[in-house]
Amino acid sequence: MSLRELNSFGLPAQAHTLVRLRRDADVRRMLALPELGTAPKLVLGGGSNIVLTRDPQAVVLKVEVPGARLVAETPEAWIVEFGAGVVWHDAVTWCLDHGLPGLENLALIPGTVGAAPVQNIGAYGLELADRFDSLDAVDLVTGRSVTLDKAACRFGYRDSVFKQDPMDGGLAGKSVITRVRLRLPRPWQPVLGYLDIERRMQETGIAAPDPRTLYDWVCAIRRAKLPDPGRIGNAGSFFKNPVVSAEQCRDIIARDPHLVHYPMGDGRFKLAAGWLIDACGWKGKSIGRAGVYERQALVLVNRGGATGAEVVTLARAIQESVYGRFGIRLEPEPVLL
Ligand code: EPU
Repeated sequence: MSLRELNSFGLPAQAHTLVRLRRDADVRRMLALPELGTAPKLVLGGGSNIVLTRDPQAVVLKVEVPGARLVAETPEAWIVEFGAGVVWHDAVTWCLDHGLPGLENLALIPGTVGAAPVQNIGAYGLELADRFDSLDAVDLVTGRSVTLDKAACRFGYRDSVFKQDPMDGGLAGKSVITRVRLRLPRPWQPVLGYLDIERRMQETGIAAPDPRTLYDWVCAIRRAKLPDPGRIGNAGSFFKNPVVSAEQCRDIIARDPHLVHYPMGDGRFKLAAGWLIDACGWKGKSIGRAGVYERQALVLVNRGGATGAEVVTLARAIQESVYGRFGIRLEPEPVLL
């Protein structure tokens, strides 16, 4: 079974077994099969945050749990629930169409609802964790369904318990998310602090955008900067934005005054990885059939027919040049298999 259509990078790989999951009971049914029960598992959502460098030696679980509903409404918030297989952007749009605003800044992020908590997706000043209520998951060994609240998910910057090592109490590889509930605070308040959004406000003269306007702005900003994975294979930002000490930040600015940096509030600074990569001259460059996107150096793309190995070779070369020039080790954002 080819996985090429099931990962947004469009990388070639074969799964020996692929199981489609539409409900919690499907997980238990699979676990009961002697040939699959104890085999290693790889959970695939929209495949938008994975780099397949080889054929997975695991049963591939394709999460296809459907559903969208308003489950609770209080004066303080709406709680909406989505099946993990729902396309994330469709969930954002569904909320807006049903008069349930609050997710606009996260429009057009590739992937599924079930994958959103795994890496705590974020954009334009908002993260999933800011709108998270709880989720349901199924344990891949016992088949038991569990509900996790926000604290149990241990959200961090592009991080959660689902990426953390079981040795450290994490759940990486241990469970599959089947439903996610989001909490949309009332009354709605737009999140407008991000530079790209402020620029739109100035250009349009709209100081208080309504939810639909904000959604349209975010979609337009992303379309201008980021490649559509439907047309050019990619996995969004390929590296996390690194965090450095004030001293290290000062040292770099002394040599590169244009360094893009943001104070973290704890004395440290977050640097724009895209800027670092761009400064090393990588924008628009390629190694083999893997390349650095022309309009955003943080995004690696498949120029057509690339293999996972080519993407990893390019990523390593970028890491080396950024380390050589700035002394910073960039950490990949997607999962490398
Ligand atoms: N920059 C450059 N050259 C480049 C790319 C960026 O100089 O080639 C500079 C920009 O001019 C800007 C700064 O770097 O001053 C930051 O760039 P941008 O605002 O585009 O955001 P980002 O740091 O590159 C992050 C997230 C994105 C998210 C955007 C918007 C990470 C790793 N990436 O990107 O998330 O959409 O902010 O909020 O945190 C993703 O995680 O897959 C993703 C796309």
